[in-house]
Amino acid sequence: MKLSVFGIGYVGCVSAACFANSGHDVTGVDLNATKVEIINSGKSPIVEAGIDELIGAMVTAGRLRATTNSAEAVTNSDVSLVCVGTPSNPNGSLDLDHVKHVCEEIGAALKLKEDRHTVVIRSTMLPGTVEGLVVPTLEESSGKRAGVDFQARRRRVLNTRCQPTINPRRGSHGPPACRRLPSCNAHELECRP
Ligand SMILES: NC(=O)c1ccc[n+]([C@@H]2O[C@H](COP(=O)([O-])OP(=O)(O)OC[C@H]3O[C@@H](n4cnc5c(N)ncnc54)[C@H](O)[C@@H]3O)[C@@H](O)[C@H]2O)c1
Repeated sequence: MKLSVFGIGYVGCVSAACFANSGHDVTGVDLNATKVEIINSGKSPIVEAGIDELIGAMVTAGRLRATTNSAEAVTNSDVSLVCVGTPSNPNGSLDLDHVKHVCEEIGAALKLKEDRHTVVIRSTMLPGTVEGLVVPTLEESSGKRAGVDFQARRRRVLNTRCQPTINPRRGSHGPPACRRLPSCNAHELECRP
């Protein structure tokens, strides 16, 4: 599978590296050019046990790269995983500006793409946000229809560590563990399409 991972912070980096380690072709996308350069040099922009080595190995293997060009990343992938930040507003609600902005970018790229595309949101969101924000934003910016030309769904973020990939063990919560890599939620898309 070809994946584009939007937001290469803690969640995005681990997801991108783990999916690449599972054999997928992964492109990380971030507004921050420094993070993009760090990944492309085979290093990690985040601190996490094992991630530096994993990113280095995946970049060397040619299965992981990063870019600031979201249109190119969408065009060259089948699935986009949205992992951008959703900080808290002063009133405690979630600031969804980054999610909306990424959906606008993905939608603009989908306008020019003929193949069907899947958008999966891993950023923290309340139930109903896919229907209330993600789908309308993608439809408006792409001029296409959800469920017809593309699909959008939300996935819970259960694990932001790559250690389970390197040293598999069953997690204490979340969905039934994947048989191949117990507790590694990077397999969620493969195991639970
Ligand atoms: N870090 C955790 O332990 C954790 C755990 C559970 C859930 N989450 C959720 O996952 C999401 C991401 O968290 P994180 O800790 O990885 O955030 P982060 O701040 O580490 O990374 C977010 C990244 O998104 C990038 N970004 C912002 N707008 C963008 C855009 N338009 N296009 C491309 N990139 C863009 C930022 O530059 C940044 O690199 C949040 O919703 C958070 O609540 C995080």
